[in-house]
Amino acid sequence: MSLQERDKKHLWHPLTQHKLHPDHLAISKAKGALLYDDNGKEYIDGIASWYTCMYGHCNDYIIEKVHDQMQQLDHVVFAGFTHEPAIKLSEALIKILPKNQNKLFFSDNGSTSVDIAIKMALQYHFNRGEKRGKIIAFEGGFHGDTFGAMSVSGLSVYNGPFEEFFIDVTRIPVPTSNNFDAVKQQLIELLSSGNVAAFIYEPLVQGAAAMKMYDAGLLEALLSIVKQHNVLAIADEVMTGFGKTGKNFASQHLTNQPDIICLAKSLTGGMVPMAITSCTQQVYEAFLSDDISKGFFHGHTYSANPIACTAALAGIELLQSTDVQENINRIIGAHQAFDKRIKNHTKVSETRQLGVIYALDLNVEMDRYGDLRNKLFKFFMNNGVCLRPLGNTIYILAPYVITNAQLEKVYQTIEAALEEV
Ligand SMILES: Cc1ncc(COP(=O)(O)O)c(C=O)c1O
Repeated sequence: MSLQERDKKHLWHPLTQHKLHPDHLAISKAKGALLYDDNGKEYIDGIASWYTCMYGHCNDYIIEKVHDQMQQLDHVVFAGFTHEPAIKLSEALIKILPKNQNKLFFSDNGSTSVDIAIKMALQYHFNRGEKRGKIIAFEGGFHGDTFGAMSVSGLSVYNGPFEEFFIDVTRIPVPTSNNFDAVKQQLIELLSSGNVAAFIYEPLVQGAAAMKMYDAGLLEALLSIVKQHNVLAIADEVMTGFGKTGKNFASQHLTNQPDIICLAKSLTGGMVPMAITSCTQQVYEAFLSDDISKGFFHGHTYSANPIACTAALAGIELLQSTDVQENINRIIGAHQAFDKRIKNHTKVSETRQLGVIYALDLNVEMDRYGDLRNKLFKFFMNNGVCLRPLGNTIYILAPYVITNAQLEKVYQTIEAALEEV
């Protein structure tokens, strides 16, 4: 029996209606920007496996570091114990995070990093004797699939059974030059209720909403207002973090820095799951007390797993290397050149780019998980390119190690796909 057949016996895949989509392609190995299926066919991973493997699949440097760590210390409880991989990682990460960040709290995935940020913000005010229960978020944002993260996500694809259990969230539109005055007014009215604990946002790019990009100056202005009301700003950098926007973190395109930052995905270069919620010293100090209950009683079994910390530290070293920085600039330039080539195509309604993130919208109506989207996805895969359109948006967010020839193949396959729709 093939892997695909055996898969069907016991496995339940994410974001899948199995009755309509029973088949899953078996991938047997990966290297650099390439995935290989069990028949040996290769695919360029144009989305770095949901933007995780940015330094390339099975990166030799990360493997070497992880291999050494595996023989030294596999895991230990992180409550009451500490270890060098976590300490070294904290020292390296704090150096590259926005300057106001000073403490790191570990978990396992992007959604939990967001849930932790929300709980931190709610308890921050609670510990200071203020009951603030509302979170403000952007319409169309995506922050994950656990309850807190799902509640603040505006992108409510198939959330029906859960909506009545959500936490108290009010969504405001993403600012544009046309709606800015109205959004600002709405924000001021919400903040003046005195009940708002935090404002959560994906800085500059809303990933799952189809790489929607918005202006740094407008976000900057909203953050200034938020800060005047003693409301915590939470930047969800789960997608944007670690170089994708051309800076280490998207927040570094702004001067108003968040109080809390959520990190996951390429934190470990795709090697193992791990997430971090970072915060300022001021947030941390609100939890210091002789009263034990004012501590943050949240904990995951695999918090700060030494192997994951080692992968993350290796990832940060790679991110800072000349090689990776040159690759980022090379990809930025290649996307800019491709944009000139494609933006006036009759089937393209809009293109956008920030750093190595490139997206184009087709001027065709398409459902997020509809037939036309699936036809496009199949076309890409048949041609050896793994791109997963989000509705009528095709986006590229490839590993930094993708070669020029591989990038050109991605571009040409997109151009060929335009003739198919
Ligand atoms: C901005 C953002 N936040 C949170 C998440 C959730 O991360 P995870 O899938 O690791 O739970 C995602 C996932 O795509 C994301 O893009």
